Amino acid sequence: MVEVIENESRSKRLKGLTTDTHERLDKTIMAHNPFASVENYTRFLKVQYLFHRDIYRLYDEPVLDALLPDLKGRRRFDDIVHDLGDVGAELPVADRAPHFHAGEVDLPTALGWLYVAEGSNLGAAFLLKFAAKLGLDAGHGARHLAPADEGRGLHWKTFTKALDEIALTTEEEARVTAGAETAFKRVHALVQAQYEA
Ligand code: HEM
Repeated sequence: MVEVIENESRSKRLKGLTTDTHERLDKTIMAHNPFASVENYTRFLKVQYLFHRDIYRLYDEPVLDALLPDLKGRRRFDDIVHDLGDVGAELPVADRAPHFHAGEVDLPTALGWLYVAEGSNLGAAFLLKFAAKLGLDAGHGARHLAPADEGRGLHWKTFTKALDEIALTTEEEARVTAGAETAFKRVHALVQAQYEA
């Protein structure tokens, strides 16, 4: 049972509401030993490629850019494409159109997806260490796991501070939560497709 504390910040509330799905995802991914071989790691890269392809467009959205600090600099898609090239892998065949591709972007939903994408950079600190065992690093094969120049913690803090300051209605708040949950579900499905197909 997830406890929601009144007046809690949006990012803290999202953390509370998604901790279970995050733990399951973390366990599912690590159970597939993504760092046991470059081949296994390549599957993880393909998960990242398809997830970041879903949200690629959000980093060009002027409305989001006005609300979130250094939005364009946070896009990791190109680094993932580089990483796939570094490990000699083909780009995965897309299973569907990107989640955000046509029409107007729903701001609250997009904020939920960006919370998941930006938050996933925190755990990348651990993953970068595992990648080193495969001879991969922020300059070769694991660029997308690298910290931002200002550091992971500050980069996350400036993001969550801006996220928390956006005024939304109760109904819009529910769409932020639904966006984050859909994003996690998407990553779960991509992990299954890459490791269990
Ligand atoms: C592969 C294994 C993963 C590990 C070991 C891992 C580990 C972590 C760690 C240690 C944190 C920081 C927790 C804290 O500060 O309390 C974190 C935060 C987070 N991770 Fe992961 N993670 C993994 C995968 C993912 C994936 C694939 C996603 C989504 C695509 C994700 C999304 C998040 C989010 C949204 C947060 C921020 C939670 C918050 O503080 O609000 N993680 N992760």
